[in-house]
Amino acid sequence: MKRSLIARFAAIALVVSGQGVLAQGTAPQFGKDPIKAIVKAMSLDDKVKIVVGKGFSLPGMSMGSNDETPDKIFAISGHTIPLAKFSIPSISMADGPSGIHRWAMTAKDSANNSFSTAWPVGTLLASSWDTTLIHKVGVAFGEEIKDYGIDFILGPGANIHRNPLGGRNFEYYSEDPLVSGSAAAAIINGIQSQGVGATLKHFAANNQETNRASVNEIISERALREIYLRNFEIAVKRSQPWAVMSSYNLVNGTYTSESNGLITKILRDDWGFKGIVMTDWFGGKDAVAQILAGNNLLMPGSPAQIKAITEAVKSGKLSEAVLDKNVEGILNVWLKTLTAKGFDYPNKADLKAHAQVARMAAAESMVLLKNSTQTLPVHGGATVALFGTHGYDLIAGGTGSGDVNKPYAISLADGLTNAGFKVDAALQKSYKDYLSDYAAKHPKKPLIQEIMNPSPFAPEYKVDGSVATQKADASDIAIVYIGRNAGEGNDRKVEGDYQLTGQETDMINQVSDAFHAKHKQVIAVLNIGGVIDVTIFRDKVDAIVLAWEPGEEGGNAIADVLSGKVNPSGKLATTFPSVYSDVPSAKNFPGKEFSEKATMGMMGKSIPAEVVYQEGIYVGYRYYHTFKVKPAYEFGYGLSYTNFTYSKLTLSSLSFHGKQIASVTITNSGKTAGKEVAELYLTAPKGQLDKPSEELKGFAKTRLLKPGESQTLTFTLNAKDLASFNTDKSAWIADAGKYEVKIGASSENIKLEKTFMLPGSLTVEKVHKALAPQASIDELKN
Ligand code: BGC
Repeated sequence: MKRSLIARFAAIALVVSGQGVLAQGTAPQFGKDPIKAIVKAMSLDDKVKIVVGKGFSLPGMSMGSNDETPDKIFAISGHTIPLAKFSIPSISMADGPSGIHRWAMTAKDSANNSFSTAWPVGTLLASSWDTTLIHKVGVAFGEEIKDYGIDFILGPGANIHRNPLGGRNFEYYSEDPLVSGSAAAAIINGIQSQGVGATLKHFAANNQETNRASVNEIISERALREIYLRNFEIAVKRSQPWAVMSSYNLVNGTYTSESNGLITKILRDDWGFKGIVMTDWFGGKDAVAQILAGNNLLMPGSPAQIKAITEAVKSGKLSEAVLDKNVEGILNVWLKTLTAKGFDYPNKADLKAHAQVARMAAAESMVLLKNSTQTLPVHGGATVALFGTHGYDLIAGGTGSGDVNKPYAISLADGLTNAGFKVDAALQKSYKDYLSDYAAKHPKKPLIQEIMNPSPFAPEYKVDGSVATQKADASDIAIVYIGRNAGEGNDRKVEGDYQLTGQETDMINQVSDAFHAKHKQVIAVLNIGGVIDVTIFRDKVDAIVLAWEPGEEGGNAIADVLSGKVNPSGKLATTFPSVYSDVPSAKNFPGKEFSEKATMGMMGKSIPAEVVYQEGIYVGYRYYHTFKVKPAYEFGYGLSYTNFTYSKLTLSSLSFHGKQIASVTITNSGKTAGKEVAELYLTAPKGQLDKPSEELKGFAKTRLLKPGESQTLTFTLNAKDLASFNTDKSAWIADAGKYEVKIGASSENIKLEKTFMLPGSLTVEKVHKALAPQASIDELKN
């Protein structure tokens, strides 16, 4: 009795002193009370702590901290600041698009804690053209994120492959916005089905790594709406990611994270995005402008940002109502997290089961580029001479935050052995000795340096011509293996990267000459993160398998394709040009630098730069087809071990009234079970705007069809699929006239065509005027 009286008096004393509302236990509580009530009860300091992250700290390293509570999860990219009095927990965020990345500093760190599955990279997954498969990967990925107690994964990345040299292309899906947006939506829906958040990034136009934090990307409104935003629009509308990450670059003079036009007008108002926007790590310059733009959360968060926002509210430069809105937006999303729900995570994942998903997804997505005289599949038990260092050292994925703390990476040598092939042992030993000797002589740099500027791989091992001849006698078949890697912070180079090195060319020539002299065949396997020049060797070899970067199970998955256990059904989601100079952005990549204006910042030396997207909407196949430039392998191309016929193209109506449904029958006319991707391209009538000769508007994949079996695929075209973006009217407009529907096995291999009419022009959608370039762009026209 006495004790409770004291407690009551203490409470009354607090209320009288004006502190009562903030006292522990009396403040509204997160998860119980309405978010609006919590925001109302918050002081300015509290609010600022919600919109700025906890700071960047890694084991043994901190770059400014806003809160001393220990991180919930070991060595991941970001946490938010907890606010105990409202029971607001710290929310955790980990990279990246192809699996969970831990910034493990030492071998002990990585062994101690939680390996994660390295999934096939985005470019490979997109090559499946199979959103059901990508969704399946998303579900397994989401389960792993949940099991490790992480609230948000910082992926997927959905930027467009504008140029083959883009250092992060491997993280991204395609040169086409429909493929990119559909793949991103599929993985997001899969991930989020497990109760964890996805973060769609990097919004927008983060298409190069050179000067990524200072480059002003000058892009027409039309190219933005039809290409560089359309991918994000599709993903947002189909999957409502919990978060979007703004990019580092500027678009038409404004940092994306500070752009109200991009984040509020386009993302939220035009597209109906309901989640939160966070900055990329240390992205943008002006914290207040970011909050004003509607960029809710500044990551990883710095003390300087806390100070700037607090002062801006105090001085009236930033209205507290704007801050409140951002805080409310964040807390509403935090409510959905497993941390908010008190989920007791096991901190271990089913890596075995997930490895099987990774292997299946990788094998189902690989692209067969060439297969003359039925070189593939290779019969079981064959003796294989495997040439190329990366055949013994798989490149599972790219570098930087897109890298994964994986338990292992199966090389092709191991994958072939597992599949019952005999890999030439002496050759294997020479390569492995060479690799370990190289590693011993070239120790890795400190972690951060490795991340931003990874040590180059061992150069290709020099094979003596006599070795090739000797192996041609002893083996049934040869494989020449080409590896490439890239990642965050750097773009690729033409010489020795896009193009083969002299050493690689020599290897291919020697091996091909030696094996062909003995009437034996040679297969090239490409384990690459971005497009390379294939013209130099494609006539030298008999078969080419494009494995991209296939994740930890890569060697097994490639062996599945080589052996015919899996009949390849992937197709190119990005063009392989004949020469680099054919790339429409080649003249404008990576742009101009203004070195005299360089400054030092959080991300190191920052050189102002600009790049003009003169190619406009003519990106990838939209350019090659319209301007009749023949690529080495076109968009949408990929072979199979069987053949398919296309028949019975039907359209639901001869004239368009709100919707058009096309259907086509695909028959397996070969001798092996297989799957086929069918692609729908649309040619729009000439109207007021210049238009590409055709654009992908739909795609579908059959189930596994046995020889002789058929399946009918359907495609739905909506009014927006007919429309182009009219800048003067800020509207999507479909011109009246004849539309040609083309169903193809690739963008160049059109099998069936039909037309329909749009009787009168349609204004399909009016949108906000936003992101106009400051000066006119001399854009490419058809
Ligand atoms: C990358 C992001 C990543 C973030 C956090 C940045 O450098 O651009 O993609 O999610 O770091 O690690």
